[in-house]
Amino acid sequence: MNTKENTKSFEEEQRRIKETVSGIKHRIAVFSGKGGVGKTTVSINLAFTLKSGGFSAGILDADITGPNVSKMMNVYGDLIYLDEKIIPFEKHGVKMISMASILKKGQPLIWRGPVRSKIINQFLADVEWGMLDYLIADLPPGTGDEILTISQEMKPDFAVIVTTPQEVSVIDAERAINMAKELGIPRIGVVENMSGFVCPHCSAELDIFGFGGGSKLADENNVHFLGSVPIDIQARVSGDSGEPIVVEKPLNGVTTAFAGIAGRIKSLYEENNSKS
Ligand SMILES: Nc1ncnc2c1ncn2[C@@H]1O[C@H](COP(=O)(O)OP(=O)(O)OP(=O)(O)O)[C@@H](O)[C@H]1O
Ligand SMILES: [Mg+2]
Repeated sequence: MNTKENTKSFEEEQRRIKETVSGIKHRIAVFSGKGGVGKTTVSINLAFTLKSGGFSAGILDADITGPNVSKMMNVYGDLIYLDEKIIPFEKHGVKMISMASILKKGQPLIWRGPVRSKIINQFLADVEWGMLDYLIADLPPGTGDEILTISQEMKPDFAVIVTTPQEVSVIDAERAINMAKELGIPRIGVVENMSGFVCPHCSAELDIFGFGGGSKLADENNVHFLGSVPIDIQARVSGDSGEPIVVEKPLNGVTTAFAGIAGRIKSLYEENNSKS
């Protein structure tokens, strides 16, 4: 491809991304400073909570080299194209695209930043998301290329920062908050995950990773605290089986926590509050 053709295909991609983004009312980026704190769990359960509240929702797995959304939704299959666009996978009405649904299980994904960014662009330009109330991007840990690309192309209007309560996670989450501020994301909120554990045998409440680190972090950084999600074995089991806990266990404390978080996010959009 010569330079002229390159420029043309770049412009065409940008046009298609703009078209996609203009059809999506609310665009949420879920990220954190640390790995394993529950970003994918939050992304998926938030999407299903919004869907059960009557909103259309989709999840873009922006963790290109460590994609977990397919596993946690148990959605795999061949890509289906219609009019040169990819039809997103769907589960219980929630749309989804993830590298893991497309590639062979166990295949190593060794791609440098520019390639990962290019794939995110394609997820926006070439996937037929249609009109959506919410698109949620599930990001890899840290503050690398993926969040820069999502910020530039998907133009998120809400950053959901996930942390666990203990200090080592909170310190890294603060970096993520500051990054969201630098990127100009207009609404920033913190979710404290793995916050407290109720023993299923004796009902004792144990703060395995501590408690309150997330709300303190939100206060200190003048961003919104969206809520705490307890540790629950069922949340992990549901993640492994690909049936989100908010769908499987409507009465579980984790499900109630996500209802509260979704409610806070909705009201912040309604308030048009841009505290950040
Ligand atoms: N509240 C919870 N209670 C019990 N298990 C949980 C909870 N939240 C997450 N988990 C489990 O912890 C593990 C890590 O969660 P998850 O994959 O969502 O984290 P992540 O931040 O997306 O990780 P990564 O940084 O690798 O992308 C998963 O096995 C998940 O099922
Ligand atoms: Mg993840």
